[in-house]
Amino acid sequence: MNKFAIVLAAGKGTRMKSALPKVLHQVAGKSMLAHVLKSVSEVEIAKNVVIVGHEADRVIATLPKGTQFVKQVEQLGTGHAVRIAADLLANEEGATLVIAGDTPLITGETLGALFDYHFAQKATATILTAIAPNPTGYGRIIRDEKGSVEKIVEQKDANDFEKSITEINTGTYIFDNKSLFKALTEITTDNAQGEYYLTDVIEIFKKAGQTIAAHILDDFDESLGVNDRVALSQAEGTMRKRINHEHMVNGVTLIDPATTYIDSEVTIGAETVIEANVTIKGNTFIGKNVLITNGSRIENSEIHSNCEVRNSTVEESRMSVGSNVGPYAHLRPGTVLSEEVHVGNFVEIKSSTLGKGTKAGHLTYIGNATVGEKVNFGAGTITANFDGKNKFNTEIDDFAFIGSNSTIIAPLYIGKNALTAAGSVVTEDVPDEAVEIGRGKQVNKLGRAKKMPHYRGQ
Ligand code: UD1
Ligand code: MG
Repeated sequence: MNKFAIVLAAGKGTRMKSALPKVLHQVAGKSMLAHVLKSVSEVEIAKNVVIVGHEADRVIATLPKGTQFVKQVEQLGTGHAVRIAADLLANEEGATLVIAGDTPLITGETLGALFDYHFAQKATATILTAIAPNPTGYGRIIRDEKGSVEKIVEQKDANDFEKSITEINTGTYIFDNKSLFKALTEITTDNAQGEYYLTDVIEIFKKAGQTIAAHILDDFDESLGVNDRVALSQAEGTMRKRINHEHMVNGVTLIDPATTYIDSEVTIGAETVIEANVTIKGNTFIGKNVLITNGSRIENSEIHSNCEVRNSTVEESRMSVGSNVGPYAHLRPGTVLSEEVHVGNFVEIKSSTLGKGTKAGHLTYIGNATVGEKVNFGAGTITANFDGKNKFNTEIDDFAFIGSNSTIIAPLYIGKNALTAAGSVVTEDVPDEAVEIGRGKQVNKLGRAKKMPHYRGQ
């Protein structure tokens, strides 16, 4: 039997009070819509159609290449949204999954099980339901005395008895495709919100004597529908627990999972230890046996095995095997540390490559530099790479020794084995093997201290 899917993503999300379309709000670093599309992609679907509408272009721009979409110009309700897909789907023979773009926690596994259940029950419609601790806001599942589903009643249309029902509609369903599109021609806007409710097709099927099945989720958390920012934070919390649990099962130590924030696309190798209050964002790879200490923030970076990140910020950078940074280092975009590089406290690096075994231990700024192997940066070294308008490059060759408090005025080249004297302002290239001294000569005026205001603490 062919499987199809319709993902509803046209709504504005008024309750979010946001300029960003609701389905683009992020949960663990990925839009809610992307989470839903990923779960849908885990089931074999012949045709998947995304319904876009509010800020359609922004939503379309986020869709994976090749995703089919249709525009719902006016958002007249979930039933209307599904009907918009008729041109692409109405004549197909098969079963169609309908899922909302604001339920980011529903897993691919659940969707697969829902299809299986639907086929086993030979149902016209199968609703994914859940028992909610607080059902307010959700559509309620109304069953007859025999326990079969009769209809779904929306919160705003529910009477007191219906409001007391805790079984809710997750907004995820499987329908016999042709029956779905036929029933959608019969729904009306005769309800509290004046919208075409998708949920109304259930009562239409029931009255026609067709089978309606309901599959109750074991875990309510998975069904969370995000309509406001309170629910968004709940989704974030549940997703975080799920992500952290998976990393721990895979051999990663999280000292305090409750304060460890790892985005969904992050990969982490076994034996890595992550202390409390660490944030790892975006498309980040962390290798094996890495130590990340408290307060670190890592974004879109590659940190290979046996590295240490101590209380530091790493953005769009690469740390090769055995390199270490911090405490309080800042690797800004475009930093590449080769193997066994040491970057110490209060060091900032940007758009620079440091060769194997190079050390910048203290209070240093390295920008737009290509640095060779085993270079040593003394404390307080600065590459002066910016003249207010343009950026200039510095090249420092292998084994160079940069004296403390050197100011390197780019563009320039410091040669192999060269040494710059502490306190130098380096304005010209330093040849290989040379010692550069670029500072004022010291003069001692003997006995003069007596005449100075500081003398003996006066
Ligand atoms: C819907 C269900 C409710 C269920 C809940 C689960 C209906 C009538 N109600 O309510 O029974 O308990 O989801 O989370 O279906 N959308 C469109 N076009 C529209 C309207 C909505 O594409 O014209 C999209 C939205 O972008 C959203 C989804 O459909 O992704 C659900 O819409 P929403 O307004 O959030 O419905 P709920 O009130 O949550
Ligand atoms: Mg919703």
